[in-house]
Amino acid sequence: MNAQPQRILTGHRPTGPRHIGHLVGTLNNWVGLQDTHECFFLVADLHVLTTDFQHPQQVRANTLEVLADWLAAGIDPERSTILLQSAVPEHSQLSLLLGMLVSESRLRRVPTYKEQVQQLKLQPSLGLLTYPVLQAADILLYKATHVPVGEDQLPHIELAREIARRYNQLYGETFPEPQALLSSMPRLPGLDNRTMHSSYGNTILLRDTPQETTQKIMRMYTDPARIHASDPGNVDGNPVFTYLDLFDPHPEQVEEYKSRYRSGKVGDVEVKKYLARVLNETLAPLRERRAKIEGQKGYLREILYHGSLRARRVARETIEQVLAGMGLTLGLDLQPNAQENASAAGAFC
Ligand code: TRP
Repeated sequence: MNAQPQRILTGHRPTGPRHIGHLVGTLNNWVGLQDTHECFFLVADLHVLTTDFQHPQQVRANTLEVLADWLAAGIDPERSTILLQSAVPEHSQLSLLLGMLVSESRLRRVPTYKEQVQQLKLQPSLGLLTYPVLQAADILLYKATHVPVGEDQLPHIELAREIARRYNQLYGETFPEPQALLSSMPRLPGLDNRTMHSSYGNTILLRDTPQETTQKIMRMYTDPARIHASDPGNVDGNPVFTYLDLFDPHPEQVEEYKSRYRSGKVGDVEVKKYLARVLNETLAPLRERRAKIEGQKGYLREILYHGSLRARRVARETIEQVLAGMGLTLGLDLQPNAQENASAAGAFC
């Protein structure tokens, strides 16, 4: 009886190269979902402009960078649709239409907006206020049933559900209420034990070389109270062990290091070298895939082109339905290059 097909839509803003936090937090999860769901992966470049509109060159470079990281992680353009938000104008169109169904005060209460306004040195733009409406449009345009996201995005999914319900009530059942799929992975701390964030320089990037990775691990924060290798050490809240727990496929090994660390029988250097090896082994298949596409901008653009074209076919159908639902169909099907014909026919004289 469960006839509704399950469709995933999710995405990242192209804000910079992806790091191992993205890998364990989202990308590994997305890669697995490709086996069970029809997946749409969105490079949300319009969303970047809600705060970063002054740096267009960066948006363009980061778009290709993020795509290369996705492909390296195992997102498969043959099985999934990878699309660029700005290349599918229906995202903007639906966002405008759905914006009619949300009050301005509701948007001001969205917690991510409130936080951003506090952090921003600029006056928040109208685009920032309507960020979650655009995100709702991203999801509803494809009638996605499930949206894998981090916890910070839950208020946006909630708004998308509200908008879907409101639309359905007013204009007839059209959109499934999208459900958030939370990844079970805990947040990965940064190399310095603060929150992992590119702007803190405390990440390992997916594009880092094995040497860079090892160097970063060797400088990593550990138990600050431990001075000599013979001091009993603390493994809880120690990011070196958090990483080992997450990345080492051999938990017995990790347990052994932990017990030696606790009893002062292993130095930090030895544990870090071990972690560097584990991490480099984990990243090896990603690096292999990335090496094949490195510098192939034409290939990356082609993936976005074909994915966006495929996405657009689905998007058009939804837009047609929404225009009809909202009373916006007089049937003027204007073709962009058909002006000559129209005036020749005297249609608008
Ligand atoms: N706002 C999301 C983030 O910052 C990115 C995003 C844009 C998104 N559109 C989306 C995520 C639609 C899920 C579904 O991470």
